Amino acid sequence: MNTSALHAQLPHTLGQVHLPSSLGTHYHGKVRDTYRQGDRLILVTTDRLSAFDHVLTTLPFKGEVLNRLAAFWFERTKHVVPNHVLDVPDPNVTVARACQPFALEMVVRGYLTGSLWRDYQKGTHTAYGLPFPAGLRKDEAFPAPIITPATKAEYGKHDEPISEAEILARGLASPRDWARLTEAALALFAEGQKWARTRGLILVDTKYEFGKVGDELYVIDEIHTPDSSRYWVADEYEARFAKGEDQRMLDKENIRQWLIRERGFSGQGTPPPIPDEVRVELAGKYLAAYERITGAPLKLEPGDVHARIEKNLRAAGYL
Ligand SMILES: Nc1ncnc2c1ncn2[C@@H]1O[C@H](COP(=O)(O)OP(=O)(O)O)[C@@H](O)[C@H]1O
Ligand SMILES: [Mg+2]
Repeated sequence: MNTSALHAQLPHTLGQVHLPSSLGTHYHGKVRDTYRQGDRLILVTTDRLSAFDHVLTTLPFKGEVLNRLAAFWFERTKHVVPNHVLDVPDPNVTVARACQPFALEMVVRGYLTGSLWRDYQKGTHTAYGLPFPAGLRKDEAFPAPIITPATKAEYGKHDEPISEAEILARGLASPRDWARLTEAALALFAEGQKWARTRGLILVDTKYEFGKVGDELYVIDEIHTPDSSRYWVADEYEARFAKGEDQRMLDKENIRQWLIRERGFSGQGTPPPIPDEVRVELAGKYLAAYERITGAPLKLEPGDVHARIEKNLRAAGYL
């Protein structure tokens, strides 16, 4: 891993986006900045790192890794479910079909781990209205992947678990759309797991967002990135599970565990500052994930990300 390139990029990370207003109406998410031009969105993936629904810092090349990985996966799954991508004019930018989003996060899980395992131990895992057998072990595979949906919360608030009955009662999706959403989410997950296996990885769980244009369903936002998914190293799974050891992972759970272990932070109050050494180490994990998933290393080109984005958007005629 080229850590000197990561250090060199620390002063150039993309934290704030301030592109000319002619690009469209500007919205901020936790990780992406979005500009709306009529029926299309210019989605700029920044280097911001969010965990426990807070933005903590920026990581060198993180936006590029996420945007490229999402583009990779959208391309690989477009025969399964149509997606929002129209163009990728810059490593950090996706031009997408503007959809009417469902206010739902479709979380698909193949294994009992992470927050669901923490809930299961406390007995607070019942919010999804799903039957869970007693006596499951940490990191145990479910007989088949399950969907544990959540409502999309505002900034700083936690996404709330929700049951199918509640989704239908609140009208967050019609019965027909709910059936289509679950089918699409499970089909995407199966495709993701299949590819991950060929790369020696387990796609453990992930989160999808969907939207509609007219009656057409599209998968939007990002898919199968380390921000939205958990990956484990496949050939170590059985031995580690048998011994009750943590799995070797390739995802954001690393930062969550660092925050809990080193700083006692799990989302309440003001997040602690993140030292540069930790930022570089975490950036390295994002790059390693990219390489592991796609099978090709990312060529790092340190420099001013914001200026490059503006140049590429002009060249492609979006500005
Ligand atoms: N094609 C699309 N149409 C409409 N909304 C979209 C589309 N793609 C992504 N979005 C929305 O844009 C935002 C992306 O910014 P992000 O930083 O991921 O936000 P969040 O803080 O909600 O995670 C999200 O609210 C996502 O739902
Ligand atoms: Mg998001």
